Amino acid sequence: MAYASPALLRKLADLLGPKGFSTEPAELAPWLSDWRGRYHGRAAALLAPARREEVVEIVRLCAAEGVPLVPQGGNTSMVGGATPDGSGAALLLSLRRMNRIRSLDPEANLAVCEAGVILSTLHEAALEAGRRFPLTLGAKGSATIGGLVSTNAGGTQVLRFGNMRRLVQGIEAVLPDGSLYEGLTPLKKDNRGYDLGQLLIGAEGTLGVVTAASLRLVSAVGSRAVAWAGVADPLAAMGLLHHLEATQKEAIESFELVPRSALDLVLMHVPGTRSPLATPAPWNVLIEAVSPLVAPSPEPLLYEGLRSAHEIGLVGDATIAANEAQAEAFWRLRDSISEAEKKDGPAAKHDISVAVADMPGFLVSAAAAVEARFAGTRVSAFGHLGDGNIHFNVRAPEGTRADWVEMTGAEVTGFVHDLVTAAGGSISAEHGIGQMKLAELARLGGAARLGAMRAIKAALDPKSIMNPGKLVPL
Ligand code: MLT
Ligand code: ZN
Repeated sequence: MAYASPALLRKLADLLGPKGFSTEPAELAPWLSDWRGRYHGRAAALLAPARREEVVEIVRLCAAEGVPLVPQGGNTSMVGGATPDGSGAALLLSLRRMNRIRSLDPEANLAVCEAGVILSTLHEAALEAGRRFPLTLGAKGSATIGGLVSTNAGGTQVLRFGNMRRLVQGIEAVLPDGSLYEGLTPLKKDNRGYDLGQLLIGAEGTLGVVTAASLRLVSAVGSRAVAWAGVADPLAAMGLLHHLEATQKEAIESFELVPRSALDLVLMHVPGTRSPLATPAPWNVLIEAVSPLVAPSPEPLLYEGLRSAHEIGLVGDATIAANEAQAEAFWRLRDSISEAEKKDGPAAKHDISVAVADMPGFLVSAAAAVEARFAGTRVSAFGHLGDGNIHFNVRAPEGTRADWVEMTGAEVTGFVHDLVTAAGGSISAEHGIGQMKLAELARLGGAARLGAMRAIKAALDPKSIMNPGKLVPL
């Protein structure tokens, strides 16, 4: 790994101009820490190209000198994936100025977006064209398409339309030698060997820089019904999902699990929130049913599904939002869990998945095992039950010091990840590996996976200039 020479920095400054090149500490500072505040890095310069040709030139120049590049979108990685290391050798490559929606074709249900397009901007543009980009998450106001592609992002709407991997129809990227991979055409059939586009999705910028993506659009929401239901346990919640899917098939787009403890934290720490149910339930689910038509709304069918589920004992109390404001209030409860947990105190956070059908049993037994092994800890397991993906957070015992995560958290994490691995699951369902989970991937990834990942990285990026120290254990 080399430091950029003054000559290289001069060439980059000439190439990008004052809008696209800076070494000003104050301009760099906001982008050198991750948004969770866990990782802090250094960089020799901030590069902000406006066109893909500039990205090609940047990568070519850096490859020639072996200077590392750290691509960055909205800087909302959950795992320190976009934060450079502390050496100061890296150049931060921000894609935020490449923010054009190159085309949006409602007939073809396709949008071609540059890497710096912000997710909520795409949502709005699709809506204007009578369509929808069906992936959403808490950071939609800052997360960029390039970052979402590079981390294979998930979120709260994966149940029906899948994660980024399923929504990306084509990719344009600059590979580590500076060559431009032009794969934006959404070919339905293409058997020219390895699927480079799929390889770049979820590669966290370690195999090249995604500069644009063709994305699948779906019908806009005509009407929706949002319900909050109390259930006895995660197994009942899964039973409810099957019950609803059997009667309303494709309408169910979100099915999020919220334990009472997480709801209580939200009610305590987030102003203006109130419980949707008069009698608190031990577990809750937030359900969203969507129809592309304004009428009939999915509400009567959802009501009937919940009523019949109540009759067979799958649901306790349940309520359907009476209007959009209430629907948003229900969603706010769900989306505020991480914020409320943060306010409450330290926690060791895990983003895990097992086979969907196994998750209820896994999560109950794993929570009991963790709480028995680490006295005083409390598991808060919430999220995307319908995807078999739960945020399995272990809250520190009450009154523990702020450095609990550093002191004991790693041991807790090892314990949780061992359980997940034994169940055939994944230690990263939707947040990625970044730098946070690198050691755990090295420990638990398995020889075949790790060997193939290292071989691919070495073949495509022999000088290891693309986001070094992330995703691929050495
Ligand atoms: C969520 O689903 O709320 C996030 O992915 C979890 C998090 O912020 O840790
Ligand atoms: Zn999540």
